[in-house]
Amino acid sequence: MSATAHGFGARIVGTGSCVPQRVVSNHELAARIETSDEWIEQRTGIRERRICNLEHEGTFTMARDALGRALDAAGVKGSDLDLVIVGTVTGEMACPSVAARVSAAVGAAPAAAFDVNAACCGFVYSMTIADTMIRCGRAKTVGVIGADAMSSIVDWDDRRTCILFGDAAGAAILRRDDDPRYGCVYQALGGDGRQWQSLYIPRRPQEVPPADQDDTTKLGCLRMDGKAVFRFAVSKFREVMEDALTKTGLTNETIGQVICHQSNARIIEAAREKLGLEHDKVHINIDRFGNSSGGSVGLCLDELWRAGKIEKERPFMMVAFGGGLTWASGVWRA
Ligand code: UT7
Repeated sequence: MSATAHGFGARIVGTGSCVPQRVVSNHELAARIETSDEWIEQRTGIRERRICNLEHEGTFTMARDALGRALDAAGVKGSDLDLVIVGTVTGEMACPSVAARVSAAVGAAPAAAFDVNAACCGFVYSMTIADTMIRCGRAKTVGVIGADAMSSIVDWDDRRTCILFGDAAGAAILRRDDDPRYGCVYQALGGDGRQWQSLYIPRRPQEVPPADQDDTTKLGCLRMDGKAVFRFAVSKFREVMEDALTKTGLTNETIGQVICHQSNARIIEAAREKLGLEHDKVHINIDRFGNSSGGSVGLCLDELWRAGKIEKERPFMMVAFGGGLTWASGVWRA
């Protein structure tokens, strides 16, 4: 599925993010499970991650605060929003959506509000949906958030997965513009549900595939075939980035920042090297925040936006892959 600019444009007018205060280092994990700082850093690039105190923090509070900061940065009131979208797989309740509660919290009601479940692609998918709603005239000002409290669904006894994840939220405010050159100028969203067993969060025993029916599978916790996802990610990342550059006629030189989902530093580095992109075009913060699923791309965008590294007029790219399996790329002009 792809689209080019038409109708209205969509400007990014502000960004925000939120991470919990609590820092959990590799050393702290190594004191609890059989792992080491060296193993985690060499295999993933992670040194530490942020973890919610789930008594009073979680996906909702991070999403709310990230959106609040984005609204402040944009100089936009909550009541100006006519749509709120949250990309997440860790909403506290199946109903209402995180978006509904966030919308109420920032004073956006009666704005439309819904969550998007596309795992680590949640933010990129949601940005694309928001852009499309604006372009076709159905929305004017949209709050988009990617947020995941992965600590709430990680099995802390499973060293194959728990070392990888962290908690974070990132947000952007999009506003209608008369010039269709602004906003998402190219996108490619995809999914392959045939590979869902590579990464899933089972709620009932009957959902657990036969191959995983051992006594280490915990209901309500993320189960991942790390090697399978790694193989998929390395080839898919490169494929979607090449596709986006080819279809837009952009090159390594003319593209601005390439914001990758912070899955694993080795996956990002493999794609960067294959494409021959300069180091300073590919932001890395996984060393500080781990893999925060739907939160990661929005968090990177906010860091780059606030540092003035998203240049006006120069297209930048967002790219992600994750559970589903899903993948997504978007080329944006801010
Ligand atoms: O964003 C969502 C999508 N998810 C991802 O992007 C994850 C993609 N996958 C990965 O990032 C990597 O597969 C992991 C970081 C999860 C694992 O790295 P790996 O290089 O694929 O390790 P592995 O699972 O092949 O394990 C290698 C060895 C094994 O020992 P043996 O069998 O060779 O003796 C594991 O038991 O490392 C062992 N191991 C560990 N050792 C120390 C696995 N986890 C750990 C650990 N600490 N935490």
